[in-house]
Amino acid sequence: MSRLIVVSNRVGLPSSRQKGAEGGLVSGLTGALRDRNGLWFGWSGQIAKETGTTVRTQRSRGIEYAVLDLSQEDYDAYYNGFANRSLWPLCHFRIDLANFDRAYYDAYMRVNATFADRLMPLLKPDDVIWVHDYHLIPLAEELRKRGAKQKIGFFLHVPWPSTRIFLVLPRHREMARALTAYDLVGFQTKRDAFAFANYLQSEAGGIVDETGVITAFGREVRLGVFPISIDTKNLAALARSPEAGVHSDRMRKSIAGRAMILGVDRLDYSKGIDRRFMAYDAMLDRREDLHGKVFFLEIAPPTRSDVPEYREIRREIELMTGRISGKFSEYDWVPLRYVNRGYSQTALAGLYRTARVGFVTPLRDGMNLVAKEYVAAQDDADPGVLILSRFAGAAAELGEALIVNPYDEDDMSEALEAALDMSLSERKRRWQTMMHTLTKHDINAWQNAFLTMLTIGVTPAAVTSSP
Ligand code: G6P
Repeated sequence: MSRLIVVSNRVGLPSSRQKGAEGGLVSGLTGALRDRNGLWFGWSGQIAKETGTTVRTQRSRGIEYAVLDLSQEDYDAYYNGFANRSLWPLCHFRIDLANFDRAYYDAYMRVNATFADRLMPLLKPDDVIWVHDYHLIPLAEELRKRGAKQKIGFFLHVPWPSTRIFLVLPRHREMARALTAYDLVGFQTKRDAFAFANYLQSEAGGIVDETGVITAFGREVRLGVFPISIDTKNLAALARSPEAGVHSDRMRKSIAGRAMILGVDRLDYSKGIDRRFMAYDAMLDRREDLHGKVFFLEIAPPTRSDVPEYREIRREIELMTGRISGKFSEYDWVPLRYVNRGYSQTALAGLYRTARVGFVTPLRDGMNLVAKEYVAAQDDADPGVLILSRFAGAAAELGEALIVNPYDEDDMSEALEAALDMSLSERKRRWQTMMHTLTKHDINAWQNAFLTMLTIGVTPAAVTSSP
């Protein structure tokens, strides 16, 4: 089997993993890397005088890690700038928050070129390279310029915007052309793949054949749909374990017989936490009988705090928490607990299991693994209810959740009531269907599907039919 090279902006170094803030990448990729004697390459998460002067390596549990540092200037303009102030808001349909400073774009291209320079000497001819996410779109083009002939695949963890939104990006053509330098580009949902295919067809004269291969910019690229998932069996086992039980017990004591609504998110404006709070506020206004009987725990560790738009959402959430608590609290009841820190997977598994409602309402999300984790962690004898945004990629697979429009506070607030009032038999029926899906489509199925398509080229039927 070929060696697997994974490249991502942030590398999940075992020695520096940040609890609760690592996104879906780490859990998803370590399994694939271990099976294929792999190498994980990317940014160390540290700042140095210059970008990529040295590459540090480390071996741990069958995986080789190779990392480089970023200069302060590149951290500001590549990571905080183009990745998180240009592409992130654009991909999450927030052009009102996007900033397209030219210096950001230049730094983005420069860092991708440095990644390619440093990665080239580590490559062997029959390696398979798997690049992840919006930080590294130009990497394959840069590697090809340096003579790389290996198979290179790309997986986009975030949504691909509709063509009319993507056209707002000043260098949209360059970005789209860069993606066609890959052999395979994978998306979370059919809608994302269609949106990209639509751009290539309408703006770059692209031609799609019936096997999902697109010809554009004089190149051929295969598109595919690979909804990322979780390690369902292990997460379910973790939620039942005595270690997670410590957290469930502690939580249950604090719950004191009340029903808990739980939200877990990186503190990001795309997660819709503010509107979720408004929906909860509206429900408490309507349902006085629930006062004292229910509470909402929102766990939202801060991320990207150097980006002004993230500082702003944090300030708003803090203000809203204060307002809602002040409005409804009694001396023996606080309706909303907002926790601005992350927890270990074990603690979260225990908390998911004790929550009557998993409240997952992003305004736009590539997939949202919290939704999947919440389902996997439930007690089969007394499962909770998942409320899920129709704009999370996960909604395509978890149709038995209460699907809501995260822009419609009334809709969310009614779903909260429905979830709290739902009978045990209906909760079980919905949960069993979702759990069945997640057991079949777990993280191993995801990585196998992508890597099989990249190495063998199985037909991605998904992109040849309508969404
Ligand atoms: C999202 C992105 C990931 C990213 C994660 C954490 O899930 O798709 O690529 O790693 O957020 O964000 P951060 O900026 O802290 O790496």
